[in-house]
Amino acid sequence: MRIFKSIQEFNEARDGLGKLSFVPTMGNLHKGHTSLVDIAKQFKNKIIASIYVNKLQFNDDNDYLCYPKTIDEDIELLERHGCDYLLIPDDIILENIQRIQAPFKSTKLCGQNRPGHFDGVLTILNKFFKIIDPNIVIFGKKDYQQFILVKDFIKNNNLNIKIIGGNTIREPSGLALSSRNNLLCDAEKSIASKLYEVLKDIESDKDKLNLDLINSKKDYLESFGINVDYLISCDPESFEESYEIHNKNLVIAVAAFVGKIRLIDNLKLTKL
Ligand code: PAF
Repeated sequence: MRIFKSIQEFNEARDGLGKLSFVPTMGNLHKGHTSLVDIAKQFKNKIIASIYVNKLQFNDDNDYLCYPKTIDEDIELLERHGCDYLLIPDDIILENIQRIQAPFKSTKLCGQNRPGHFDGVLTILNKFFKIIDPNIVIFGKKDYQQFILVKDFIKNNNLNIKIIGGNTIREPSGLALSSRNNLLCDAEKSIASKLYEVLKDIESDKDKLNLDLINSKKDYLESFGINVDYLISCDPESFEESYEIHNKNLVIAVAAFVGKIRLIDNLKLTKL
């Protein structure tokens, strides 16, 4: 795997790299990320990953500073999964960066309590897309709202990029893999698995889907000391609250604090 440690070094090589499938990451890689590299292998393109912890998308300095960094292990993992190139830019990437304002729907779900988060995500991705010029990008669907916002961004800006979503990879307990899981102790991990348990319970009761059902599941989570940011049944594109499971597919999305760690998960409910 060829590693580029600066944008300049990458720019000098870009013309010789051909068509690229791009997997953007913030490092601390796990099976969720490598599954995206594995998806990329289905296409003829060479595969490029990036590792950059993007300050612009953190609202909490402490969260940014504590973001786990495991660069040597990340490189080894990417190499093992057949990634061809890795770009690890430094903060020069932020110089004169064009600020992107995410659309209204970015203020829903994770945007409610993380103002500016998706502006930061789209701002850095726009810059990465300009530098890397990929024709395929692959994102995990655990970050469902991010996936939809990037899909819309690509479409609305007529970018010649195909976006592919990778399914969430889970621990045997159901807990969605996330770099933040490394910050949980074993007891917290076991509590965190309640998030997926609740999503699955709502799915089994989807014929009775309403606000009361959602609220009872929120109470259930809180009985374990989980601090629920949101648990919502919503339209998969607009993220507006909805219970119309007889008319359309919906998404149940959750964000919650287990101890100090904020986790997210979601499950698609297919129309009845
Ligand atoms: O999902 C992430 O890890 C980040 O939001 C991304 C897409 C790498 C942008 O910084």
